[in-house]
Amino acid sequence: MNCLAPSILSADFSKLGEQIACLDAAGAQYVHIDVMDGMFVPSISFGLPLIRSIRKCTDRIFDVHLMIEEPIRYVSDFAAAGADLITVHAESTKHLDNTIEEIHAQNVRAGVAVNPATPLCAIEYVLEKADMVLVMTVNPGTGGQQLIPYTIEKVRELKKILRQRGLKTDIEVDGGITLSNLDALMEAGANIIVSGSQIFKGDIMCNAGAFLEKILRH
Ligand code: DX5
Ligand code: ZN
Repeated sequence: MNCLAPSILSADFSKLGEQIACLDAAGAQYVHIDVMDGMFVPSISFGLPLIRSIRKCTDRIFDVHLMIEEPIRYVSDFAAAGADLITVHAESTKHLDNTIEEIHAQNVRAGVAVNPATPLCAIEYVLEKADMVLVMTVNPGTGGQQLIPYTIEKVRELKKILRQRGLKTDIEVDGGITLSNLDALMEAGANIIVSGSQIFKGDIMCNAGAFLEKILRH
């Protein structure tokens, strides 16, 4: 299914509940939650208490993108806080397989993410286990960057591999996504679209509506 996953990293945190209600009303199916530890990426964003609080605002799918070192340490905590889907970076752990198993042990869907420069072969052995692959279209760490063009080709390659293996795994893309590059990403095979700055600048309902209209047309 094709879905919009607005990234609340670009939200106005003084009005977070209200802004999440707007996304919900617009029909966005996911809430993308970027957790950063200041180690895996330079920035520190937010963590468990925030997720617990906003869990009360919506029943939409909580898509927790962990940009933290050795995420296995916190998988059960994020599951308890209300994550429906936990995504970990292939680059962030020595034990990717174990980490996926730990996510599934919590009855949560597991995503694996790859940075732009990480080759797809880094996740080839765990593709059957992953519920979603997140292809980063920028270097993780901040919102509002420009999409790196070669990542579109990477999405196409991933889709081809999944098709060859008969897998219907979701492909999520994250970073620098606009109404102008969205079609190219979806044509390449992406079906879960993250967007932060483009959704939260100006009228949230209007922006989310415009993204959804395009996304659902594919
Ligand atoms: C980047 C984060 C993204 C970010 C996307 O490290 O993973 O989810 O919030 O923001 P935009 O859409 O502004 O690039
Ligand atoms: Zn993200």
